[in-house]
Amino acid sequence: MHQLIIRKANLPDGTQHVDIACNDGRISVVAPQIETSAETEIDASHCLVTSPFVDSHFHMDATLTYGRPRVNRSGTLLEGIALWSELKPSIDSADIKRRAHALCRWAIAKGNLAIRSHVDICDPALTAVHSLLEVKKEISPYLDLQLVAFPQDGYFRHPEATRLLDKALDLGVDVVGGIPHFERTQDAGAASVTALCEIAERRGLMADLHCDESDDPHSRHVETLCAETQRLGLEDRVTGSHLTSMHSMDNYYAGKLLSIIEETQLHVIANPLINITLQGRMDSYPKRRGMTRVKEMMERDINVAMGHDCALDPWYAQGSHDMLEVAQMGLHIAQMTGQEDVHKIFAAVTTNAAKILQLQDYGLAPGCYADLVILQASNPAEALRLRPSRLYVIRRGEIIARSQPAVSQVNLFGQTYPVAFRDSEYTPATDVERT
Ligand code: FE2
Repeated sequence: MHQLIIRKANLPDGTQHVDIACNDGRISVVAPQIETSAETEIDASHCLVTSPFVDSHFHMDATLTYGRPRVNRSGTLLEGIALWSELKPSIDSADIKRRAHALCRWAIAKGNLAIRSHVDICDPALTAVHSLLEVKKEISPYLDLQLVAFPQDGYFRHPEATRLLDKALDLGVDVVGGIPHFERTQDAGAASVTALCEIAERRGLMADLHCDESDDPHSRHVETLCAETQRLGLEDRVTGSHLTSMHSMDNYYAGKLLSIIEETQLHVIANPLINITLQGRMDSYPKRRGMTRVKEMMERDINVAMGHDCALDPWYAQGSHDMLEVAQMGLHIAQMTGQEDVHKIFAAVTTNAAKILQLQDYGLAPGCYADLVILQASNPAEALRLRPSRLYVIRRGEIIARSQPAVSQVNLFGQTYPVAFRDSEYTPATDVERT
């Protein structure tokens, strides 16, 4: 007798109609048909069963503060940073924890069971650091929260950031962060990359730097991040977040930089929802999209993930922490609409992101944690198109969230038609990958 069996599941790799048995918090069997029964059985016919979504880039200390103390009228990154500086002194630990827990509930309902969140260390009291370390511990049975020590006001530009970043890491923050394009000069930005990578090397930590998040085609911090990663032997531990300036660089230099990123094995995180709204704000027409060169990176097998970045905060007035919304926006901006592209985009919010966070035992093979999401969609393409209900969210073999299937009743010509916008409503086949 198994504890849980999910029957007739479709998997993201195209495998169809398999049974998945889970015991003691782990996947124990994946087979076409499991004969034995289980304490709990779920019929997943016509449903995609995936490992959980992973948000590799978020700011949990600022989330759900939209409108405090006022809204971002220019819609720019810089007004967002200024707004956050105004707000910071007025928020206390209870406020941060209440909002963080609310966001975690949203994440879990959407099937996101791992989040890498940057936490601003430019506060002498490190209030957000202390608060989110508590949230990380409290939420750990349900969601993996990884924290990045993020010097929002600049590692060298803020007078105390060098000391505060070390202190945050001493307190248990997991990853070294940075923001070189916000330092006063290009040289200071480069020096911050060197210093932060050396801290990661010394402490044996991963690094994830906001890097060249601007429309400036001459910003050059990604090449420095790659050079320092190679010099210090940090390959596979370093991530560049945003890299939006690559959108504006001339193609000759961008081509050179792509080669350097490839040989460095730098992980890359694009944030489509935010990049498409913050970048190109000073353009008239044509307006630049501002997202980094995701398609070209994926063609080179560079590991690219997509993050949510913000939800209802000084930088972004939208969002519900749905990683399929992130992926769908990324698909549009990158113009990755082909059959293979869809699978690459789905991986950007699942397996690629899990690799960046170095999540242990993540996946659908026997022995992996029984962390699973059952979607009201048959395959990744349909999931991206519909952003469907997460029917079941399972953590360590236990159901921790459920949603009802979304079906509309349409009354026409004296008849009632159920409409769920499924592929099966317009193709004769019910359960096949689209060709
Ligand atoms: Fe960010």
